[in-house]
Amino acid sequence: MKRVFSGVQPTGNIHIGNYLGALRQFVELQNDNECIYCIVDMHSITVPQDPKELRKHTLDVAALYMAIGVDPSKAIVFVQSDVPGHAELSWVLTCSSYTGELSRMTQFKDKSKGKESAPTGLFSYPILMAADILLYDTDLVPVGNDQKQHIELCRDLAIRINNKYGETFVVPDGRFLKEGARIMALDDPTSKMSKSAENPLSRISLLDDESKIKKAIMRSTTDSEGTIRFDVEQKPGISNLMNIYSSFSGLSIADIEKKYDGCGYGDFKKDLVQVTFEALKPIKERYEEIRNSDELIRILKDGAEKANDISEKTMARVKERFGL
Ligand code: ADP
Ligand code: NA
Repeated sequence: MKRVFSGVQPTGNIHIGNYLGALRQFVELQNDNECIYCIVDMHSITVPQDPKELRKHTLDVAALYMAIGVDPSKAIVFVQSDVPGHAELSWVLTCSSYTGELSRMTQFKDKSKGKESAPTGLFSYPILMAADILLYDTDLVPVGNDQKQHIELCRDLAIRINNKYGETFVVPDGRFLKEGARIMALDDPTSKMSKSAENPLSRISLLDDESKIKKAIMRSTTDSEGTIRFDVEQKPGISNLMNIYSSFSGLSIADIEKKYDGCGYGDFKKDLVQVTFEALKPIKERYEEIRNSDELIRILKDGAEKANDISEKTMARVKERFGL
């Protein structure tokens, strides 16, 4: 059995990129592995947050985990700030990291572009992420492609500390899917779909209604060639839509090309609206049920206790190695 760890930030707008890149792997992995799924609220305060909203979104995302099929009797589900080990280990890792390697993180470079000064939390965020992972002796981290560089840093830190202080951490591997690992924005298929993009039509959120899904897909940016052919370089828009179609329907890209041979974008998009809507409908229904039940708080409390038990063992080992 492998230990699996992953997390999602508690912001609104959890979108189909988050789902197809990361969240659906959570469900797939929970039967044959020891899975730990976290709502990483301390990552969210790297940028300003409204405290009330943050607390609400934490419960929203916990409910969403369960709505997509995460089963708290099989996986540990908990909130990051309920387990002090994350912040504690983060500091220890900070002291084994270099400003040079953190400055090379593309996500930080993007977010701080053109600014003379950036929030320190934004700069050291990948270290907190490494702590999240290493705290649980994690073997596998199911995430989207955009996290590749952060996983690499986490591995570097683990290896560096193991070499210097003796065997301390399990060195984890990222788990990236072939289809869906990088879903692009619908209005601009050259940048990734994100929670924070200003245009709401750039993404489809898991709880969007049919009319919003329709609007976003029908207005999505494609090209003028008009043939349904997968070519990420030349035809990023339609290729992204095919990727979404494939992930939700299970049809391969080749099957989709065959099915829509001779069809126009309009017909394809109309079908994609349906495919997406049908895939999200059961999630939405379960979400409403779970979000309003008292179970949610109990599940998170129970999850935090279990996570604490594991993390305390790791921290005892870390302290012993470092002489703390
Ligand atoms: P975001 O990047 O949307 O702000 P998070 O940082 O909470 O969200 O990421 C949650 C998970 O979703 C991560 O595993 C991340 O790799 C994945 N993810 C985020 N955006 C995309 C995307 N456009 N395509 C595929 N996976 C994504
Ligand atoms: Na991300």
